[in-house]
Amino acid sequence: MKASAIILAAGAGTRMKSSHPKVVHKLLGKPLIRWAIDAARSAGASSIITVVGHEREQVEPLVADTTIVVQPGRRGTADAVSVCRDACRDIHGSLLVLSGDCPLVTPDTIRHLAEVRDKRNAAVAVLTMQPADPFGYGRIVRDDQGDVERIVEQKDCTPEEAALTECNSGLYCFDSDALFDALNKVSDGNAQGEYYLTDVLEISRQAGRTVVAVPATHSDECLGINTRAQLAQATQIMRQRINEVHMAAGVTMLDPSMVWIGPDVTIDSDVELLPMTFLNGHTHIGSGTIVGPNSRLTDTVVGTCCTIDETVALDTRIDNDCTCGPRAYLRPGTHLCDGAKAGTHVEIKKSTIGPGSKVPHLSYIGDTTMGGGVNVGAGSITCNYDGTRKWPTHIGDNAFIGSDTMMVAPVSIGEHALVGAGSVITKEVPADALALGRARQVVKPLWNKSKDKA
Ligand code: UD1
Ligand code: CA
Repeated sequence: MKASAIILAAGAGTRMKSSHPKVVHKLLGKPLIRWAIDAARSAGASSIITVVGHEREQVEPLVADTTIVVQPGRRGTADAVSVCRDACRDIHGSLLVLSGDCPLVTPDTIRHLAEVRDKRNAAVAVLTMQPADPFGYGRIVRDDQGDVERIVEQKDCTPEEAALTECNSGLYCFDSDALFDALNKVSDGNAQGEYYLTDVLEISRQAGRTVVAVPATHSDECLGINTRAQLAQATQIMRQRINEVHMAAGVTMLDPSMVWIGPDVTIDSDVELLPMTFLNGHTHIGSGTIVGPNSRLTDTVVGTCCTIDETVALDTRIDNDCTCGPRAYLRPGTHLCDGAKAGTHVEIKKSTIGPGSKVPHLSYIGDTTMGGGVNVGAGSITCNYDGTRKWPTHIGDNAFIGSDTMMVAPVSIGEHALVGAGSVITKEVPADALALGRARQVVKPLWNKSKDKA
């Protein structure tokens, strides 16, 4: 495909009832505007221009890899394209115009639209759809020969026009020069007092140019997001699409309607995903691993043959044959080496748990480097924070930390050391040593029977 693209994203999206512009709302973790830009880019668009306006400081950081053009007022879709005139100076031939609120359109459809325009040398090819409820969309008016005559907006429709079912998806491919010529002739003489991009079709036809309608193969693709309900609907469609791709590639899902996978997640074959699993960001899951139920992994890389049960992991690395949960919370900077375990009610932050090391129950491990073969007894924690600063803990290979040990950082425990249960460790424990840091037990025989209990 040889085409450039303009993406319209200046609107407010009042029906979202939000303090954020519509196009920054996320669908499976990715802002709506990014779905449109990424689709245009994968279709092969050589240069992309984004038109911003409403709350543009929230939109601009998301589109920094495109040419940004500001539309000062919101005077309609034709005005939004007109402000790109200078930015399009060197663009001749196919120019796509896409909506920033239309995230489900596929690169294949975009490419097809551009190819049809090119082949027919048309002034414009418009993608059309047959939605279940056409209300609110522009209607495609065809002449006796079945050729597209014009598009009429809902608010300008006669009753006959309102009965038409073929609608404008808002996705177009134009001949760039013909588009900017026609835009000079668009007026705001309509029900909304706006400059309609859709008027370009009729103007082009009157200029003797070809105008083609390309019916979308799946109406789903054209779903525009104007409300939260449509956002939920689009999320469901996209989730299903993504899940189907993973299932086709060998991923088992007990119930795909209860699995949410972001667009940048990669999963090897023979992975099993159980209900209420959320895989976000740049997460990867290796072969043979089971994730869920009730798990949320963000920017987390998991190796092969792990069991990740009821786990929240953020920016974490989990190597092969690891076990997590139920109810593990792995915070940024955690690294579980091969065969390590982060068990029940265990929180780990910015720490390495060495190969085969186990933190099975009720622990907090922060800012720690732990060697291999370590066992951390139930209820043991690192006291890594003194109220001002965070301090490190080091635990050597094969150390055994008795239950309910407080490791007051900075502190280091040597290889093969043994720490007695209930210890508060404040000083270095050398390799192979036994450390006990607890009050001696006092026993008063027959105390309950004596007269003066003290
Ligand atoms: C538009 C079409 C309609 C089509 C529908 C499909 C027009 C006149 N109508 O209607 O035929 O069926 O899309 O969803 O084009 N925008 C700007 N600046 C503006 C106005 C809009 O950037 O001044 C952007 C919006 O942010 C949005 C896109 O253009 O991304 C479409 O605008 P919107 O107001 O949603 O148009 P619709 O009324 O839905
Ligand atoms: Ca719209």
